Amino acid sequence: MNKPFDIGIDSLSSASETSTLTISPLPEPSQIPASDASPKSFYLETFGCQMNVHDSEKVSGVLLGRGYHAVKTPSEAGLVLYNTCSIRERAAQKVFARIGDWKTISNGKVIGVLGCLAQQEGEEIFERAPWVSLVCGSASYRRLPELIDQIESGNRRVMGLDLDTDETFETEITRRDNLFRAYITIIEGCDYSCAYCVVPHTRGPERSRPSDAVLAEARRLADAGYTEIQLLGQTVNSYRDPSPRGLDFVGLLRAVAEVKGIRRVRFTTSHPNDFHREIIDAIDETPALCDHIHLPVQSGSTPILRAMRRTYTRDEYLEKISWIRAGRRPYSITSDAIVGFPGETEKDFEDTLSLLDSAQFDAVFAFTYSPRPNTPAQHMPDAIPEEEKSRRLAVLLEHQRQIQAKRNEIFVGQSFELLVDGRRTKRDQWAGRTTCNRIVNFTTPREILLGEYVQARVTQAGPNSLVGEQVF
Ligand code: 5AD
Ligand code: SF4
Repeated sequence: MNKPFDIGIDSLSSASETSTLTISPLPEPSQIPASDASPKSFYLETFGCQMNVHDSEKVSGVLLGRGYHAVKTPSEAGLVLYNTCSIRERAAQKVFARIGDWKTISNGKVIGVLGCLAQQEGEEIFERAPWVSLVCGSASYRRLPELIDQIESGNRRVMGLDLDTDETFETEITRRDNLFRAYITIIEGCDYSCAYCVVPHTRGPERSRPSDAVLAEARRLADAGYTEIQLLGQTVNSYRDPSPRGLDFVGLLRAVAEVKGIRRVRFTTSHPNDFHREIIDAIDETPALCDHIHLPVQSGSTPILRAMRRTYTRDEYLEKISWIRAGRRPYSITSDAIVGFPGETEKDFEDTLSLLDSAQFDAVFAFTYSPRPNTPAQHMPDAIPEEEKSRRLAVLLEHQRQIQAKRNEIFVGQSFELLVDGRRTKRDQWAGRTTCNRIVNFTTPREILLGEYVQARVTQAGPNSLVGEQVF
């Protein structure tokens, strides 16, 4: 096997000014006339989470390794791929709309559906959209070369939908879309069975990557000039090294942080059940480990957590928060919450609001509950009306906004080290992230700063952003 390597997107197409986690929106296919495109050109649009963003980087790598080249619009592409999300109904609808746009204009192009919606809908996609030729879930990506062979030999119903796997997706080439932060998947799939969640069904069982492969990738990224790494997994902290070295998550964290040239190591998403004090001890002791923890709580009500099958109670969750707050670093904690899960009473909802007060999160990603196919909660009784779910969401977001406004005020006057990853041209500001993953938009008399580490002092704070100036 050849030595794996990484390519920055700037060597393939023009890089965007800011480092975004999703690929920037492009014209809808229906607005673009179909054209004669080279069959070896591809366009890949990504929906959903960071795991998907990084999967797309690897899928692109597979295609580049087979002589394909990336193009910027679907009209220029012979192969149009959508790496899809189905976590909530709206995400799935968006993808179906995108696929539907090709109904009358696919015109010889090969259209492929990858990711969670592909796995969830399977063969149905061919029935619903006969112009689609490839349907492949993430647990089958290691078979992509073989599936692409089939496409190239003219097969127009190619499927990779196997979930029964203990393998991970290893690529020889990965196209890196983010210029400043490199992702490394350390664990794929999920062995939990949260009642609302499609992921165990769409991504398959949990599989950890051998630590040697992870560390070799980290070293290659450092050699390529990356200083920040984000370890990815649906339940990143349940990592268990399958190789004889047998590292646990903390062991792997410490080892990645030791890689020469790596200044920042992040990880997401942690499951509270696998969140142990040792993680905080490791971060406290290791400067390269960032002091930000994303720890989805989902609900502040123990009965709802039980119904959700989250495997912890409100008090157990808050105990973990107290360990983090007792750590030696000024940790930032962010979380996810779902409102309107079946049976959620006003009292349950108020428990979620009071948990926000106790936890003092730095940001919360909140969603209204969306019933999903093949999940235990799909047909649960006592569904909450959509209108009431939306009301609860608005109340929760406003509650959290006030918490953040207060929390952020204390940063005014403080200085932070930022990794500069964006430019706000209109406001003549640069944007950088602190180790806590807070964005600071700042001014500077200097010119070129992207990718540099600078010190900036915060001069203004709002609930969602900080403004500052570079200090020398
Ligand atoms: N409905 C609403 N939100 C959901 N999430 C996962 N599944 C659902 C669903 N069916 C949210 C959870 C998770 C985040 C990625 O998406 O909060 O942590
Ligand atoms: Fe979904 Fe729960 Fe697994 Fe997270 S831990 S991916 S919410 S099933």
